[in-house]
Amino acid sequence: MQFPSHGANYEALYQNFGINMPEQVFDLSENVNFLGAPNAVKEAWPNLLPKIQAYPHPQAEPLRSLLAQSHQVKPTQILVGNGAAELLTFFAQRFAGKRVILIHPTFSEYKMTLEAAGADIEEITITDIKKYTLPIQQIKDAMNSAACLYLCNPNNPTGSLIKRDVLEDFITYGEEVGCEILVDEAFMDWTDEEHSVISLINQYSNVTVMRSMTKMYGIAGVRLGYLISRVQRVQELAKKLPHWNVNALALAIGEICLMDQTFREESIIKSRELKEEIEDFLINRGCEVTKSAANFLCFQLKEPSKTRDFYFYCLKRGIVLRHTENYLGMNGQWLRIGMKGSRAVETFMKVMDEWHEQN
Ligand SMILES: Cc1ncc(COP(=O)(O)O)c(C=O)c1O
Repeated sequence: MQFPSHGANYEALYQNFGINMPEQVFDLSENVNFLGAPNAVKEAWPNLLPKIQAYPHPQAEPLRSLLAQSHQVKPTQILVGNGAAELLTFFAQRFAGKRVILIHPTFSEYKMTLEAAGADIEEITITDIKKYTLPIQQIKDAMNSAACLYLCNPNNPTGSLIKRDVLEDFITYGEEVGCEILVDEAFMDWTDEEHSVISLINQYSNVTVMRSMTKMYGIAGVRLGYLISRVQRVQELAKKLPHWNVNALALAIGEICLMDQTFREESIIKSRELKEEIEDFLINRGCEVTKSAANFLCFQLKEPSKTRDFYFYCLKRGIVLRHTENYLGMNGQWLRIGMKGSRAVETFMKVMDEWHEQN
């Protein structure tokens, strides 16, 4: 049975498994904001059309400067990409023939891009999925002979947050032993900026932070992400990226999104409310639930051996969850669920209760 490597694209999922797709499907397998893009983007839409006629700014201005202002770094410390995914691809290419540490379970693109780049990947798997306790000494030992340590904070798929002092400890150690640290903060928008390590970038030379604008601002189809690092590293990477890598529409939309603080705050509140509701529900049904700072969480059934059965039961009833078959350390025995609005969540709860009645 071939499980897809990412969430979303549920039509292909039904086709792949040969399951008739119900008329109504709630896709809880991906993590894009269920509110969609901010209204300000929809209102600006007609004025965006002329943007398609001209080449975009090669250094992604004025978005780059606005991002720099909001994160209190220099514009030259920012590299804007066609989604964080593009930047991950180019970032990985720096490690051809070098060792990079991955902490599993985590976002699958790290391994894919590093493998494609010919990096030597050292994989450390966390055993306590629920708490996502990092084996600090083991990681530090691995750092002695590694060029880079990748960390995802909050982590995809668990949503777990790594404490800032733990991160700073890795960063300081990395400085000592010559190991870079990439912190992927693609989901940091869903929690408090105080957990971000962007402010450490000017203090230490080995830190790069990756950010995505596609999740919070519901613009996954547009593609927009950026990384922040030391100027020299940004310049080195910029030389490798295609000229005009970010299209003019994405730049203009990104600018509108960045200004919309109210949208961001509302999204966080709505997602938190749903998360609390789901957490209570799952715990009441005997599930293990990860403590998530993002707009999704992972849960494990009381009887984990029934996970596949439950996953397919949900699919047949129009509830698409994210399987964890390709997440090292989860062995398919957890499921990830995105906060995709109250109707989706209520339907999920109904389906789960029906399944419990029959099992
Ligand atoms: C942890 C993490 N980093 C990066 C990305 C890529 O984001 P983007 O849509 O900006 O390419 C994703 C997408 O799912 C993700 O989960």
